[in-house]
Amino acid sequence: MNIGVIGAGYVGLTFSACLAKMGHRVICAEKDRDRLATIKEGILPFYEPGLAELVATGVRQGNLSLTDDLKAAVGHAPLVFIAVGTPSGTNGEPDLTALEEAVDAIVSAANDDQVVAIKSTVPVGTSEHVSTMLARGGRSAHVAANPEFLREGSVIDDFFHPYRVLIGTTDAAAARLLSTVYHPLACPILVTDPRTAEMIKYASNAFLATKISFINEIAMICERAHADVAEVAAGMGADPRIGQAFLKAGIGFGGSCLPKDLRALGALARRYALTPSILDAVIQVNDAQRQRFIERVEILLDGLPGKTLAVFGLAFKGGTSDLRESPALAIVDRVLTAGAIVRAFDPAAEEAAKRALPVLHCCPDAYEAAEGADAILILTEWPEFEALDWGRLRGLVRRPVVIDGRGVQVASPATRAGFAYFGPGGAIAHPRSSGASERPHAFRSAERTTSG
Ligand code: UDX
Repeated sequence: MNIGVIGAGYVGLTFSACLAKMGHRVICAEKDRDRLATIKEGILPFYEPGLAELVATGVRQGNLSLTDDLKAAVGHAPLVFIAVGTPSGTNGEPDLTALEEAVDAIVSAANDDQVVAIKSTVPVGTSEHVSTMLARGGRSAHVAANPEFLREGSVIDDFFHPYRVLIGTTDAAAARLLSTVYHPLACPILVTDPRTAEMIKYASNAFLATKISFINEIAMICERAHADVAEVAAGMGADPRIGQAFLKAGIGFGGSCLPKDLRALGALARRYALTPSILDAVIQVNDAQRQRFIERVEILLDGLPGKTLAVFGLAFKGGTSDLRESPALAIVDRVLTAGAIVRAFDPAAEEAAKRALPVLHCCPDAYEAAEGADAILILTEWPEFEALDWGRLRGLVRRPVVIDGRGVQVASPATRAGFAYFGPGGAIAHPRSSGASERPHAFRSAERTTSG
């Protein structure tokens, strides 16, 4: 089938390349010419395992072409996906400028009876708004909300093995065509009305964020009560009604979706004069995690000024170079302001980090970053950190301390090599607490906690 995709960001480019791999003939339009030129050269503007190769294969085989001409992408395709960004605008409501530009292009392409599927995450009611815009422009298109659930770092696998596909439409032609496209993926296809589909996307991301803030609040209590939050999460998750996923305590969630979608859902509630208490609390807990982590570092190192911190990880999560709303970057920014010296390493985000924080000193690998460090801070859950040679790192640091903000599996090798390890939820003495059960200052006593 001829398919047009508007937008070559994470979602648009992934969709284009994966649809091309399925055998469709895809034209992907991106109006940012610099971005487009880079992609055409075979370089992605972001790190995503396997995607550059998939794009190149699609182009080479003639199933995928990239253009800055929106009209060309939508002109001859019976199916068009809108996959443009919807960044946070005023009051947390998404900015729909790019989406409306895409709809204008569809109107001017004058191709009637098209199915227009909205992949961008959009406020409840947007599909109806798009239908109205198309009708006003004299187009008889069939519109469907078709939210995506791709996770950065695993977008290709997520595309081909989705938990479900959502088609939000009351239009039988749109439901039929989209079901045909998704049928080979062999997953549940849920057809709802457009508003419900739009809400499912927001509610799903808000629920994932809620799980994270919930376990982070539990971690805060575990720290004082001397319980191991990783084991608490495993014990909770053994109940299938709770599940293991998204119960990893740490410095909190970031990225281009969870924070933005929480704000958007909150803004929607407020538009109806409702108070989204849980959503507000989820954001509040998440924001507080960063400061709580910094306080932990301050306590363990007896202050930040002049201390050298080896920072492992800058991206908002492992497997990506994306720094959008990265808790790691926010923490680095604050500890630099507090007078610490930072030597950072990230397997993929170095270039982006230098642009975002030009004063940041980045190192080519973890070992160089560790040289002379008073502590190693783990701020992104890169699997690479689990394979590090902790004996070698022990010989490079000034003080053998690991403060893990992500609960990666390094406690055993690090402690075996002589590091004191402090994971999320691990107890440390706290100057503001007076509880008799508090343990002595963990770093000075070289005590090792191994939670995480
Ligand atoms: C998310 C949704 O998972 C995906 O379905 C949607 O399409 C887009 O938004 P993504 O932003 O790629 O995907 O990241 P995700 O894997 O959800 O992680 C988000 C953040 O939560 C990261 O900062 C991650 O480090 C953090 N996280 C995740 C935790 O702190 N603990 C966990 O247990 C899981």
